[in-house]
Amino acid sequence: MNWDNRNIVNYKAELALKVDSILTEGPSWDEDKEVLYWVDIEGKKVHIFNPQKKVDKEIAVDQYVGAAVPTKSGELLLAMKNGFYFLNLENGHLTFISNPEQNKPFNRFNDGKCDCAGRFFAGTMSLNETDPTGALYCLETDRKIRKVLENVTISNGITWSPDNRTMYYIDSPNKCVDAFDYDPEDGTISNRRTIIVVEDGVPDGMTSDSEGMLWIAHWGGWQVSRWDPYKRKQIGSVKLPVEKVSSCVFGGAALDELYITTARKGNVKGQPDAGGIFIVNPNVKGIPTYKYGR
Ligand code: BGC
Ligand code: CA
Repeated sequence: MNWDNRNIVNYKAELALKVDSILTEGPSWDEDKEVLYWVDIEGKKVHIFNPQKKVDKEIAVDQYVGAAVPTKSGELLLAMKNGFYFLNLENGHLTFISNPEQNKPFNRFNDGKCDCAGRFFAGTMSLNETDPTGALYCLETDRKIRKVLENVTISNGITWSPDNRTMYYIDSPNKCVDAFDYDPEDGTISNRRTIIVVEDGVPDGMTSDSEGMLWIAHWGGWQVSRWDPYKRKQIGSVKLPVEKVSSCVFGGAALDELYITTARKGNVKGQPDAGGIFIVNPNVKGIPTYKYGR
């Protein structure tokens, strides 16, 4: 860790898992099993990475998979090309829950995350990455689906403040992070405003730490940046040897390790570690990965 002349703290990342995966994304942390779940969206795989044992296990699925989160009942909840599914980690069986976009075959689910009450928020995007035909949905704990936002192009980067009163959201091509007032009682959002505009690449996945600061992955920007959302100021940077940085999440037994996912998409010449997972010691704890369900 050192400061540069813009008063930005620079953190050093190390490669935690070298893997030949196409679109490594959607990471979440299971605090009971101390494993990292992640997906290869375009390779149609769900992975379980045990950083202590340095073992990575993969489960092939039959369609694009945008995000995987742990549930209170032990399965994984997946946001896939054709809707929401449970994945049984013992036998790899998928159980269909529902699909709010049955009438939109050119969309797929992208990033998703649970709030502190166990609701799953996940958004969609057009496969061509340009039509604003996507939306953000909430899968309630009783499995009812509520549409939360419309006219989304590439739904990404959902996270909450430590007091759960603010939700942060990214629609990547807009190059900004928006904040909403959040009501954790009923899961509703209001008062949308733009708080951060990103210059290097486009913002992709995002997480928050226990100080309320945001960690934002820069797709096309070779880094994860740390921001103060109150002062709307960048305060840190993790430079990476990969151009397309897709997401990040806190993990480790003390929730003080930041895991960063990257993609091996397009031209990755000179980026031998593209598609891999990096780890950083950020000297701060993260907010936990909340599990789905009551
Ligand atoms: C999507 C990619 C997209 C990227 C940048 C990711 O979350 O999965 O397909 O190119 O965001 O917007
Ligand atoms: Ca993403």
